[in-house]
Amino acid sequence: MKRIGILTAGGDTPALNATIHGAVTRANQLRIEIFGLIKGFNGLFNPRAPHVHLNPLFQEIPELDPTKGGTLIGSSRDFVDPEKKDELDLIISRLNKLGIDGLICIGGDGTLNGLQPIAERLPTVLAPKTIDNDLGLNYASEPDEWVRVNDASAKHGFRYKRAESHAVFDLNQIINYATPGYATAVYVSAQGVERIRTTAESHRRIAIIEVMGRHSGYIALGTAYGRPDIILIPEHPLDLEHLAERVKHTYDLQKNVVIVCGEGIVDEQGRELGAETKSTDPSGNIVLSGAAEALRSKLIQMIGDRYFQLYRRGESAKEAIFTRKVGHTQRGGRPILFDRFYAALLGSKAVDLLAEGRNNAVSILQYNSTRGFYVEGYDANRFRDRWGLIHARSMHAGLYDAKLMKPSRMGIDYLLPIFTDAIGNDDAEYMRQTLFDPGNLMQPYHSINTDVHKRIRYLKTEGA
Ligand code: F6P
Repeated sequence: MKRIGILTAGGDTPALNATIHGAVTRANQLRIEIFGLIKGFNGLFNPRAPHVHLNPLFQEIPELDPTKGGTLIGSSRDFVDPEKKDELDLIISRLNKLGIDGLICIGGDGTLNGLQPIAERLPTVLAPKTIDNDLGLNYASEPDEWVRVNDASAKHGFRYKRAESHAVFDLNQIINYATPGYATAVYVSAQGVERIRTTAESHRRIAIIEVMGRHSGYIALGTAYGRPDIILIPEHPLDLEHLAERVKHTYDLQKNVVIVCGEGIVDEQGRELGAETKSTDPSGNIVLSGAAEALRSKLIQMIGDRYFQLYRRGESAKEAIFTRKVGHTQRGGRPILFDRFYAALLGSKAVDLLAEGRNNAVSILQYNSTRGFYVEGYDANRFRDRWGLIHARSMHAGLYDAKLMKPSRMGIDYLLPIFTDAIGNDDAEYMRQTLFDPGNLMQPYHSINTDVHKRIRYLKTEGA
């Protein structure tokens, strides 16, 4: 292997540069060149295939900073459609022209699905990333549990459903215990919960905080570190009666309640709350509201004004219950130590996989209570169901206590190894030294894109 291409695909996460850094460091040791492909698969659809040589003379370029969030080579949500053979041919021919003999894609389950057709033509591996923590398996046999059920309203006349599981769930058996980006997303979200708490306490309010994660509740689960009163996860359908009772019980006691909900929470019928409720903005325009807004409307209806008037002298449920989204702050900025460290190891392992001649493999982060964390290679085919599809991992029901609406004992045991030492001394020190640096007030922001742009090279197109 002489030259590897590397790209970052899908939504960004804080540890992408750390993964790239790990890959480049390993490639330098092995005397392999690494070309960064700009903006994920999007760059490969471009006939000029914009790229950056990340390690000229086997030294990393100075812009490659593993402590910086985002990705210096850019990302996009484009993917390769296996049905579009012509497009695939063009992409492979561009990679060949660049002299690339192995490809590393840094991404999540969507990227792993997307790289399947490429791996049939060029050695390709995945280094995982996603704040949603949903690339992996609860146990190795999980892909076999997917079945197709007829559904006339679905695009292809069927949808996927999980059959009953006969596997024993054991934390030591999880495939890809945690993905880079997850720890930092929880770090930001849990802090958000702590900060909202004191204002909810002061003003006797009920806060509903929405966190990301799509259909996965791992981020919501991790916010338990910020000590919300109630956590709602997408994997467990909402029980409104139980929730309203719990909210009133807590409010009676402490005159404030903090609820965290994953953005993908569903009602008893399995319908996503965020996707379906409409509300109006101050000018009366219809806007699609998120899960927290939908939940707020439901709680306003269920609890009603009278309840609050008893406590708050004249205020309505609408005034008492408010929502906040943690939003993209949980996906941006400096990665904390756990993410940086393991992202780098996973990037390095991805290079090793290619150098060892493996194809369509994934570098995974494993955990074992005696051994701790370690990285391994795993065949991507083992993530696929019988039709070849890779599904996002759902958080296992055993990690959540639906009655308490908090992590179960096993959920706590899941979180501990990731978070106990997740923050490095330098993470706190970095903030102390940089945020109120007077220079921030005097100099405009200097984007990394400006510097990387100067390094971008292009393929010569025909006729150029
Ligand atoms: O998959 C990562 C993620 O941050 C999800 O948690 C979230 O739903 C989505 O991406 C948001 O995507 P975008 O930034 O494109 O709106």
